[in-house]
Amino acid sequence: MESTFAPLPAHADLPVVPLGDAAAWVDLHATLAAAREASPFGITDAGLPVALRFAEVEYILKSDQFEFGDLIAAVGQTEGPFYDWWHETISAFNPPAHTRLRRLLAAAFTARRVNDLRPTIRRVVEDALEPCLERGYMDIVDFAHVLPMRIMGGVLGIPREDVTVFDTLTDQLASGFNVATSKDPVGVANVNSALKELQEYAAEMVRDRRAHPKDDIVSTLVQERDGIDRLTDAELVAHIVFMIFAGHDTTKGATQIATMLLAKHPDQTALIRENPDLSGAAVDEVMRYESPVVMTTRQPLADLEIEGVPFVQGRPIGVVLVSAARDPRGFERADQFDICRTERRAIGFGSGIHFCLGANLAKAELQEAVRGLATRTASIELTHDVAWQPFKTLRGFDELRLAVTPS
Ligand code: HEM
Repeated sequence: MESTFAPLPAHADLPVVPLGDAAAWVDLHATLAAAREASPFGITDAGLPVALRFAEVEYILKSDQFEFGDLIAAVGQTEGPFYDWWHETISAFNPPAHTRLRRLLAAAFTARRVNDLRPTIRRVVEDALEPCLERGYMDIVDFAHVLPMRIMGGVLGIPREDVTVFDTLTDQLASGFNVATSKDPVGVANVNSALKELQEYAAEMVRDRRAHPKDDIVSTLVQERDGIDRLTDAELVAHIVFMIFAGHDTTKGATQIATMLLAKHPDQTALIRENPDLSGAAVDEVMRYESPVVMTTRQPLADLEIEGVPFVQGRPIGVVLVSAARDPRGFERADQFDICRTERRAIGFGSGIHFCLGANLAKAELQEAVRGLATRTASIELTHDVAWQPFKTLRGFDELRLAVTPS
């Protein structure tokens, strides 16, 4: 997500956050804490100014003086299908266009609608857990990788046999956000071809659900009307693809992280075993303690200053969610994983008008995963040390292997 800029002279004194160095990612929290304790803002070694403290991060996300950063331009693409698609999606819009899209899309993600999907989600979790419990062993691909796509497939109404294809296409699409892919014509062509396939599939789903409504999110969106307003077919296609994308690596990462944290904190897992209703609080704490989204970006609509630091219209600022969530000014005992903590203002799903639209769904997925993992096992143990993937704005691991004993 990060591009290379010539740093502004006014940012020369900000502490450097060396995100271009793999060593900085081994203990990302220590890297961020060093800069955060020195200043509310840092500068990455690629020249991107970054907000590090809870108050500044929340302020920028909630302020109407900023808009969503142009992620595609930031990685060097300024035209083409991938660029066009991103600019048709909700993230690219400011109010009032954003408000209208959000109102129409939100129908699919109300707490009630998501609760209706719980039996589907629980079934997918049970199916994924069963073989792992039988053999006493769980790999990253057995659980954390299969859940998000199967659940997304279930709630969008994608047939099981197509889910693996979707997984590959979505990975291909997501690679468009890497600077390296953007500089490689073959990489760009692959991204655009994955996008085209996903768009064609989504267009077919829209046609099908209009003729034969089902109990899935696409049917809800196709039917949703707000007075005389409704989503056009082009908007439906752009956003079905966006949802598949937005709920993919994020939920994969969050499921891996939740699994890892349960294994590393048996005392907390025992609390969930005793009282499975704590899975909601556990997910809130997972999302605070190790948010899968390292940062997002915003750009000022006009030149401005925060805490005496100047920012220039249209130049991106990194908004580091992972750092805000561990800011001791924002949270007591910020570095402690405690599912019983009482303050509930995590920042892992963002804040302000772009707050994650799929948060209810993502939380339901994670809650079912956490509940299933805790209650169906007597113990979960990591069989090796886990290493965070470096340079990934969406965090996760290459490997996650666990020994599981059924309850
Ligand atoms: C654990 C999983 C997830 C995480 C950590 C996550 C995180 C986020 C974050 C941080 C944002 C705000 C970005 C910003 O302000 O710059 C966001 C926005 C968004 N997310 Fe999620 N997300 C997750 C799952 C999902 C799912 C499952 C869906 C949909 C099915 C989804 C759909 C969206 C949409 C549509 C937006 C844009 C909202 C807007 O611009 O108004 N997300 N997400």
